[in-house]
Amino acid sequence: MNYLKDLFKIEGKVAVLTGGGGVLAAEIGSGLSKAGAKIIMLDINEDAAKEAAKKIQGQGGTAIGLKSNVLDIDDLKKVREEILSQFGRVDILLNAAGGNMPGATISPDKTVFDVNIGDLDKVTALNYNGTLLPSLVFGETMAKQKSGNIINISSMAAMQTLTRVLGYSVAKAAVSNLTSWLAVELAIKFGSKIRVNAIAPGFFIGNQNRALLTNPDGSYTERGQQVINKTPMRRFGEAHELVGAVLFLVSESASFVTGVVLPIDGGFSTYSGV
Ligand SMILES: NC(=O)c1ccc[n+]([C@@H]2O[C@H](COP(=O)([O-])OP(=O)(O)OC[C@H]3O[C@@H](n4cnc5c(N)ncnc54)[C@H](O)[C@@H]3O)[C@@H](O)[C@H]2O)c1
Repeated sequence: MNYLKDLFKIEGKVAVLTGGGGVLAAEIGSGLSKAGAKIIMLDINEDAAKEAAKKIQGQGGTAIGLKSNVLDIDDLKKVREEILSQFGRVDILLNAAGGNMPGATISPDKTVFDVNIGDLDKVTALNYNGTLLPSLVFGETMAKQKSGNIINISSMAAMQTLTRVLGYSVAKAAVSNLTSWLAVELAIKFGSKIRVNAIAPGFFIGNQNRALLTNPDGSYTERGQQVINKTPMRRFGEAHELVGAVLFLVSESASFVTGVVLPIDGGFSTYSGV
C-alpha cells in the first residue's frame, strides 16, 4: 500500500485551478483535495470560486476561492502574489477556465459564412489566451522553484472535426499545441521537474453543452445521440472520471511524462464510427 501511496503522493502540494467555479474544476479540485493538496479556486465569478472552495472545506480540505480573470495578466500576477504570500509556492496549475458560446458555432440553418467574428475572437481568446496567460504567470513561479505541473484542458474538438463548432475547435487545437510547446520549452530550460500535459475530456454534461446534448426530460437530443453512437462505451462521461488521470499526471507516477494530451472519452477519439 505504501508503494502506491508514494507513487501518487500529492499531499501538501499547492494546486491552483482556473475556472474553479465550473463543473469539471470543482470535481477535479475536490479529488486533488481528497488526495491531500491545498486548493486555490480562481474564477471570474467570485461567488462561484468561493462556493467551490467552501464545498472542499466542507469535506475537510484546505481551500480558498479568489476572483481572477484569466484574460488579464496583471490581475493574474496580483493573485499570484496573494497565493504566494499565503501558501509560499505553486505546485500544480489546472487551466480549466474555458467554454463555448453560440455565436462562435454554426447553427443548423446557417453556414460558416454567417459566423459572428466577434464571438469567434472571444471564444478563441478565452480558451487559448485563457490557458496561455495563467501558464506564463504560474509557470514563472514553477520555473523559479524548478518544479511544478501544468495541466491544460483540450477537447475532442481539437482531434477530430465536430460540425458546427468552429471557434472552440480552433482554440482547443491551439491548447493542445501549446501543451506540447511549453512542455518542451520548460523541460529544456528549467529541468525535468516541470511538466506540462493536457487532458482531453470526451463528452461530459456541463453548463456549456447540457442543452445541446440533452432535452429537459433527460433524453438525448439528435446531436446527443450522434455523440453516443460515436462513443463505444455508449454513455457520457462523469466529471469524477477525470480525477484519476489528473492525479496520475501531476504525481511522481508520471515523472517521465510531458507534452501529452490524454483523451478521457469512453473511446470516442479512437472509434471511426464503423
Ligand atoms: N464539459 C465538457 O464536456 C468538456 C469537454 C471537453 C473540454 N471541456 C473544457 O473543460 C473546461 C471546464 O469545462 P466545464 O464544463 O467545467 O465548464 P463550466 O462552464 O462549468 O466552467 C468554466 C468556468 O470558467 C469560468 N470562466 C469563464 N471565463 C473566465 C475568465 N475570463 N476568467 C476566469 N474564469 C472564467 C466560468 O465562470 C466557469 O465557472 C473548459 O475549458 C471546457 O472547454 C469541457
